[in-house]
Amino acid sequence: MRKPLIAGNWKMNKTITESISLVKELIDFVKGYEETEIVVCPPFTSLWVTKELVGDTNILLGAQNMYYKDEGAYTGEISASMLQNIGCDYVILGHSERREYFHETSQEVAWKVQQALSFSIKPIICVGEKLEEREAGSARDVVKEEVEAIFEVLKPQDATKVVFAYEPIWAIGTGKSATSSDANDMIKYIRTLLKDKYGEKVSDQIRILYGGSVKPENIKELMSQSDIDGALVGGASLKALSFSRLVKFKE
Ligand code: PGA
Repeated sequence: MRKPLIAGNWKMNKTITESISLVKELIDFVKGYEETEIVVCPPFTSLWVTKELVGDTNILLGAQNMYYKDEGAYTGEISASMLQNIGCDYVILGHSERREYFHETSQEVAWKVQQALSFSIKPIICVGEKLEEREAGSARDVVKEEVEAIFEVLKPQDATKVVFAYEPIWAIGTGKSATSSDANDMIKYIRTLLKDKYGEKVSDQIRILYGGSVKPENIKELMSQSDIDGALVGGASLKALSFSRLVKFKE
């Protein structure tokens, strides 16, 4: 019922030149494949050229961040209307690297979600705990706070337009992925929070991804879990072959 979604988060990688070759290769590898929704999230500088290349293919475009204000004196920021104008379908919001290095709060992430939705851009909202928090037994509390901050701005009629991504911070870029059953447990918990707020009919339609060291070797196992609807992928999205193998996890 929920179409699997595989999103590549390139982070601060790939010049325009490098983006062009990666996207061209990827288009070839996944041509005509419709079993999975495919999203690539290049850095801002490569969004336009990527859109030009993917056009109306089966590859959708996402940005990695945006600001919540409409426009004005916010040096270095990018607005929702700028992303909409390029043709972005998605935007990653609240990634743990943004929360940690750029001090984004759950409140700011919520404002960004609201702003993205008002420009018809679907947010991929990242949540997840640090290793210390998991070890201290507070992983669920951390995730609950991050998810519930979004409830303040997310109207019931918009709830199915968002995607959540559970990314335990200790599993990002470390090669140490969460076990598929740990990931599924937390994702089920997030779905319970969504169900309590928006009801079962809505929560059953909201996609929740897993992120953190997803690779061709572990994707099948992760996707075999009941509640994992896809993956947000960093490292393995930087090569067309590995990313296409994730996209085609069913094969
Ligand atoms: P990773 O990154 O796949 O390199 O662990 C995932 C992410 O941060 O979205």
